[in-house]
Amino acid sequence: MSTPSSPRVPPHIPLHSPLHIIDLIRKKRDGGSLDEREIGFLAAGAADGSIPPEQLSAWLMAAFLRGLTLDETRALTLAMRDSGERFSPVRLGKVAVDKHSTGGVGDKTSFLVAPIAAACGLCVPMISGRALGHTGGTLDKLEAIPGLRTALALTEFERVLEKCGASIVSQTPLLVPADRVLYALRDRTGTVESPGLICASILSKKLAAGLDALVLDVKTGSGAFLRDRKEAEYLAALMVATAEAAGTRTVALLTDMGQPLGRCAGNWIELVEAVELLRGQRNPESEDLRELSLLLAGWMVHLGGQAATPELGYARAEAALADGSALRVFFSMIEAQGGDIRVFDEPIGFHRPGATQVVEAWESGFISAMETTALGWAVQRLGAGREKAGEPVDPHAGIEFHARQGARVEKGQPIATLYATRADLLAEPAALLKQAIHFSKSPPQAVPLVSRIFTRATAETHLRKCGF
Ligand code: URA
Repeated sequence: MSTPSSPRVPPHIPLHSPLHIIDLIRKKRDGGSLDEREIGFLAAGAADGSIPPEQLSAWLMAAFLRGLTLDETRALTLAMRDSGERFSPVRLGKVAVDKHSTGGVGDKTSFLVAPIAAACGLCVPMISGRALGHTGGTLDKLEAIPGLRTALALTEFERVLEKCGASIVSQTPLLVPADRVLYALRDRTGTVESPGLICASILSKKLAAGLDALVLDVKTGSGAFLRDRKEAEYLAALMVATAEAAGTRTVALLTDMGQPLGRCAGNWIELVEAVELLRGQRNPESEDLRELSLLLAGWMVHLGGQAATPELGYARAEAALADGSALRVFFSMIEAQGGDIRVFDEPIGFHRPGATQVVEAWESGFISAMETTALGWAVQRLGAGREKAGEPVDPHAGIEFHARQGARVEKGQPIATLYATRADLLAEPAALLKQAIHFSKSPPQAVPLVSRIFTRATAETHLRKCGF
């Protein structure tokens, strides 16, 4: 019934008139904003198949070209989160924290931060992805361990979390089905690189895991999806503000992906590098990986309430590496997911690439720049990634770098070793690597590993500055 303060609705229009997808496409196409009910209709129609792919694709292109408002982004994130089943870690009685990276080359921080945070008393329900474009996938790397399963039902996921404190699994078919449909369409319609759509896609999956806190690692530089720094900053601020509005304490670190992270990029060899660090072994070429992992874990420990500041969180994270507790969590998680940890007794012996090639420096000087996207493609084409969805990947393919940006090298010095499935797969990646690494006479300017941190307050200020 109408009251004097309620909006006047013409009597011939029902208060909740039915929605039609064609109206929502036209509205977005013409620059309008969809309300919560309209966004909810769209996400539900994507999830249950009642809106056909051609109309979803048309709406995605309109959203890509017109952009989404903050309210639309928030509404889409929540509607996608609620489009399927959700995981609740409440029964486990611990604060649930996770880390998400926007993707890079050699990025294996998950294998360090998940066990470190669990060793510090937190619960880490990590739902991860596979290799995408030039970037590697956490699940593909983990599945290099014989027997290890990542497709766990939610009940088994919960059992592993209860026993080990951390579990790394794939998205179940019932978790965020709207994203499964929309993401596949975005991939085929050139609508991936939209901040609002990326934000809703990533956060819907993270929020469906029932997180109390989230640390985002937003990559910038030559190997990042969003290479433009301003775009990366906007995405970071948008994700922090959106997740905070949904009740999850969130920070975003803007980190350098101007060169591969650590010295290995591939599947098995990345695990080996992570386990070396978990065992307390140090290598100058892996120091950036160690430092970034401790910074991210420090924030997880702080947001999870186990340290008063991120700096104290860092110290706790470092202690969990030093006393072996993070390594014990990692191995218990691998075993609980069916993996055979004996392969780590002799990790080099288990590494059996089909073909190997050492690449030597072709001139003397400083390594001044690395085109990291090209290096990522080289890794994928050695056999570590797939051409088509569903193809198997080679656990032993990849690149080990022997020199990093800023290093002084002499002509003829080995700078990388390529590991391929077969000898005929070596030539193209070797050529890509040669085009991607540049030399200079003087040392390049050092790039900070973390260039900016967005908290709730700084994210909101940044969005206001961007005109929102
Ligand atoms: N990863 C996701 O899950 N979604 C995106 O849109 C981009 C990266």
